[in-house]
Amino acid sequence: GFVRRLFAQQEGHWPTDPRALEELAASRIGATAAAYVAGSAGAGATEAANRAALDRWRLVPRILTGSTVRSLAVDLLGTRMPAPVLAAPVGVQGIVHPDGERATARACAELGVPMVTSTMSSTPIEEVAAASGDGPRWFQLYWPNSDEIARSFLSRARATGHTVLVVTVDTMSLGWRPPILDQSFLPMLDGVGTAMFTSDPVFRAGLSATPEEDPRQAVEAWDRELGTAGRTWDDLARLREWWSGPLLVKGVLHPEDARRVVDTGLDGIIVSNHGGRQVDGSVAALDALVSVSREIGDDVPLLFDSGIRNGADVIKALALGARAVLVGRPYVHGLGVGGAAGVRHVLEALLADLDVTLGLLGLHDVGQVGPDLVVPAP
Ligand code: FNR
Repeated sequence: GFVRRLFAQQEGHWPTDPRALEELAASRIGATAAAYVAGSAGAGATEAANRAALDRWRLVPRILTGSTVRSLAVDLLGTRMPAPVLAAPVGVQGIVHPDGERATARACAELGVPMVTSTMSSTPIEEVAAASGDGPRWFQLYWPNSDEIARSFLSRARATGHTVLVVTVDTMSLGWRPPILDQSFLPMLDGVGTAMFTSDPVFRAGLSATPEEDPRQAVEAWDRELGTAGRTWDDLARLREWWSGPLLVKGVLHPEDARRVVDTGLDGIIVSNHGGRQVDGSVAALDALVSVSREIGDDVPLLFDSGIRNGADVIKALALGARAVLVGRPYVHGLGVGGAAGVRHVLEALLADLDVTLGLLGLHDVGQVGPDLVVPAP
């Protein structure tokens, strides 16, 4: 039934090719939002390296295995997923579409794909969770300076059914992103992406006027909370004590850091360079996955993002040690062209492509993907 599924996705006649969808989204959402979504650091060298690294590996299909029936489903950290794919945390989705994170939550829930809601959400986590119904949900923490606010976020995440906590550690300050700077747009200056804070009782208690009365004061307080460059490994150990469920670190690239994350008692690692938005010229995420996987083996699950665009990319990441991948910009482009239906279009196409590619490789189950499936390009 995959052909039928592929055609069924053509609702709205949106492109299936991620680059074509990006172009369509850029033409619809306006220059500022398009720059925000594209916004790589520096000259874009890391973003390009992410793609080049994926393209340097080649898949070796096997034939005549009768792989008519395939299973993509996986269990990871207590989360049942229809495929080893999650929606990456992306902040400030409200500038891409008025429904923002709520649309993404609806689309993810319809498919059963876990959504990782960002601290920079343009909508309070309670509303995103409500839109996600009984869909699987994880929360991504950008660590405020104030421990009290951080702990308030964690209890809100717990109360709204977020089972896994992801702490992003590669964004202790925003990267130097010329496309965004040249639009004179920074979320902290414009007061978008502050909803988690302005809806937080602890944050509000620290203001002399409510954010509704004095938005400027709220944005300035928010900006002070997010300059978290002082965080260290000791803080990570404390966070471990605060959150009893599965806790992952996102933004690991060095194998020694990966080892230390495991030694700190965390439950998993997301190998990621933030889609090339932080350190320009940094190691390609897939190359880092290879070295981190060599160091960590099966000690904790490894997840991967930065550059995933199609089913073959997902399989390459799994073959090189990832248990699941996150996808960022593509679903945001879907959000821009069609709200929840657009997000669903992108995720469904990715899962269908993954299914087709798995079958063409001669496999029945995504769990069969192993290192023998890939070779370096000559
Ligand atoms: C991000 N990313 C991100 N990560 C995070 O931990 N918290 C966040 O709030 C955001 N915000 C964000 C906004 C936008 C517009 C983008 C494109 C990305 C990074 C994201 O989670 C992921 O690491 C990358 O997007 C993965 O790369 P691809 O799939 O976009 O190539």
